[in-house]
This record gives sequence, structure tokens and C-alpha cells, in this order.
Amino acid sequence: MALLEITDLNIKVITSAGVLHAVRGVDLAVDAGETLCIVGESGCGKSLTALSVTGLLPPVARCSATRLAFEGRDILRLSRRELEDLRGKRIGFIFQDPMTGLNPTMTIGRQLTEVHLRHIARDHAAANAAAISLLTRVGIANAADRLRQYPHELSGGLRQRVMIAMVLMARPRLIIADEPTTALDVTVQAQVLALLKSLQQEHGIGLVFITHDLGVVAAIADRVAVMYAGEVVETGKARDLLTSPRHPYTRALLSCVPSTTPPPAGVSVELGTIPGRVPLLSGQIEGCAFAPRCTLVQDRCRTQTVPARSRGDAEICRCLLAPEKMELFHA
Ligand SMILES: Nc1ncnc2c1ncn2[C@@H]1O[C@H](COP(=O)(O)OP(=O)(O)OP(=O)(O)O)[C@@H](O)[C@H]1O
Ligand SMILES: [Mg+2]
Repeated sequence: MALLEITDLNIKVITSAGVLHAVRGVDLAVDAGETLCIVGESGCGKSLTALSVTGLLPPVARCSATRLAFEGRDILRLSRRELEDLRGKRIGFIFQDPMTGLNPTMTIGRQLTEVHLRHIARDHAAANAAAISLLTRVGIANAADRLRQYPHELSGGLRQRVMIAMVLMARPRLIIADEPTTALDVTVQAQVLALLKSLQQEHGIGLVFITHDLGVVAAIADRVAVMYAGEVVETGKARDLLTSPRHPYTRALLSCVPSTTPPPAGVSVELGTIPGRVPLLSGQIEGCAFAPRCTLVQDRCRTQTVPARSRGDAEICRCLLAPEKMELFHA
């Protein structure tokens, strides 16, 4: 059983301009100890997908799924209280902006130790020791002194490390990180990624990591899911997907990178920009959503529904042309 199972997830957002079908039939799974990176252009539904797992969707969003399960439990059926418990303890969420997860009115020490006291044991000395140990591990010097500070007294980079330490305090089974290192400088980013990876391996934590940076994908991903217009259009093992992408959208995203070598770890490589725009998400999209921007488009792509295709181990490639017409892809 996968740690996290998502089958046919749909999210609609009610806006003043109408209803957006922002996430459309997403299937994803994450195993314990595995890192899944989610990539795709802005507005493709990455954050909404991640938020749905922890019940943190904005009130304007409506979510349904055939299955949305964590450790075999149906997330959509949990009470508010059970969901809060799941979120605090079993699933940690690291936001792009650390202030979303930190309380500005409480010292770092109080926030960190409270997690331990609430979820691990009511032992103040142990909570304090755990806080200092984790702050040190995320690369914060003089951790004991930092405990007395408030979030606003720290730089953005330090705040993000504190946020990561706070998530780790609860010893979660799954961490969901939504572009957590985007605001950090490259050196700090590399340190934070290395730390997440080593803690993940030590404790068998599942990691869902949303990023725009292919260097990050190459450094940490076991598997990659590519999202376009609310759908997962391709999944695959990181190395396969980076070196021989099948979907034309993935190929376009990777087009800034030499096709046979993934970017070296620690090097920041932004995804390529593709001419044209992501389609409007209101209403039905006929045919393949990527057809208007696809260089390989054929007439049938504009009208025919694209089935999710599997290649052996249930990897997805939502393209009418793949995988039969692979020669087209590598022309
Ligand atoms: N609170 C909201 N109100 C209105 N629309 C929303 C809201 N949240 C998300 N959306 C819309 O839903 C779609 C998917 O948004 P989402 O935030 O999941 O995209 P994303 O892939 O995370 O993008 P980015 O890379 O910019 O973070 C977008 O069109 C977005 O405008
Ligand atoms: Mg987002």
C-alpha cells in the first residue's frame, strides 16, 4: 500500500467569474521513503493538489476524489479534529512563505517545543533538546539563543529553516513542500535539500516536493509528475523522465536542458518557457489541453479525449501520440 494514494482527484474553484475546474482527474501515489516532485507551469493545479491532501484548500475550493487516502485512511471522511491531528503530526506542510506556517506572536522556542509537547511527549526538557538539535541540523548556529527570538527577528532564509525544523519536530510520515526553497539563495537551498533528503532517508519519510527548478528535481526526485492545465500528463522515474520525456509538454518544459543529461545536482535550472498560454480552466476542454501549443499536434488531438496511458509500471503519459509514435518525439 502506498503512503499516499490519490485517484481521480477533482478540484473546482468558485470565483466571481465562474467555476474553474482547476484539478482534473489527478492520479498520484507516494511510497514511504520516496520523493515525488511535481512540476508544471504556473496555474496548473500543483498547489491545490497538495493542499487537498491536508484539508487546507481555500474555502472557495470544492474537492472530490474516488480515493484520497493517507496510510490507508480516507482523508475526505476525516472529522475536522482528525484532520488537524493528521496535519500536525503525520503530514507536515512546508509553504513557500514560511510566515504562513509560523506564528508571529510566539518565540521560535515556544512554537517548536509545543509540537513536541503536543504530539510526542509532555516532557519539557526533551522538547527543548529536540528543538535545539533540529535547529542545529537545519544549519542554524547558536540554536539555544535563537529559541528566544520571534520569527520577525530572523532573515527569510532562517525562517524557512525554522519552518522545516518545526515540521520535522512532529516526526511526520509525509512531508509536502510547496516550492520551499524558491526564496533561498543557492547555497542555503542546497543545504536545505541535502538535509531534507538525509532526514527522509533516515526516517523513511515520503516527500512531495513542488518546484519550478529542474536542478532541484535532478537532485532529489525519485519520481516526477508533470502537471498541465489541472491534469497529470506524465509521470515517471526521475532519470527516465529527465533524459527521455515522452509527453510533448514535458519535452517543451525540458527544452532548455540538453536532452541526454539531466542538470547536475545543485545547479539551478528553470523550466523552459513555452509559447502560448495555459488554457482557461472554466468549462470542458475538448481534446488534449496542450494541443494549441503542441508542435506535434495532429487533427485528432483537438477533438479526441486523451486516455491516461500506462507503460508497464502504471506510469502515465496522457498523449494520443505516445508511446507508439516515439520516433516523432526524438526526431
Ligand atoms: N483561492 C483561489 N481563488 C481563485 N482561484 C484560485 C485559488 N486558488 C487557486 N486558484 C486557481 O486555480 C488554478 C490552480 O492553482 P494552483 O495554485 O494550484 O496552481 P500552481 O500550479 O500551484 O501554480 P504556481 O506554480 O503559480 O504556484 C489557477 O488557475 C488559480 O488561479
Ligand atoms: Mg503553487
